Amino acid sequence: MKELRLGVNIDHVATVRNARGGGFPDPVRAALMAEKAGADGITAHLREDRRHIGDADIERLTRELTVPLNLEMAATDEMLQIALKARPHAACIVPEKREERTTEGGIDAAGQFTRLEPICKFLGDAGTRVSLFIEPAREQMDAAKAMGAPVVELHTGAYAHGMAGELERIRAAAAYGASIGLEVHAGHGLTFDNVKPIAAIREIRELNIGHFLIGEAIFTGLAPAIARMRALMDESRK
Ligand code: PXP
Repeated sequence: MKELRLGVNIDHVATVRNARGGGFPDPVRAALMAEKAGADGITAHLREDRRHIGDADIERLTRELTVPLNLEMAATDEMLQIALKARPHAACIVPEKREERTTEGGIDAAGQFTRLEPICKFLGDAGTRVSLFIEPAREQMDAAKAMGAPVVELHTGAYAHGMAGELERIRAAAAYGASIGLEVHAGHGLTFDNVKPIAAIREIRELNIGHFLIGEAIFTGLAPAIARMRALMDESRK
């Protein structure tokens, strides 16, 4: 297994498709192309309002992919039932607000412990590797660990927006997470310009990147965009 995996989020292929209805462009075709271009996994967020990925996309992804599928989902009964049926390799629990444009912050694992713990357990018992999308903060990682999630994904949105001190916060969080036995992933807002300092953090095992790669694919094609991201990630680990 690679030291640092790249998960490609294909949500925004579906955003373009849904702008006109119908089936084009097909996010599953993009996922299969990403797989060939070196993606180590595919990520898709089935939102409550189905604004991009739909239920049929998830069904097709579970059938057609050969790399692991990481299903991003809100901690709701509906999503839990879908995940238990789809049995993806991994599920990342994210906070979700209908009015937000994108996932704006991490889930409050510490504050929502009693709601999240059984969801982690049901998914884990079904063989799905659960991660929690959290802010890079110790109390959130302690809560994830205590509820039995094997993985956390650190929200890099504030870092991507240039917030002072955020890189150090992510570094410290990744070191702490690994020290208590969590597998640490990261993602949100990563681009060619900002990926390297995050990819250089040795405790981070996976990056999930979507919006930028799909946008860049308009100009260069998806495979070259993924190849360049992969090369930047590899350079940062040398
Ligand atoms: N990881 C998680 C948990 C996310 O919710 C998202 C956004 O859907 C991403 C990674 C990817 O973020 P971006 O599309 O900004 O690369």
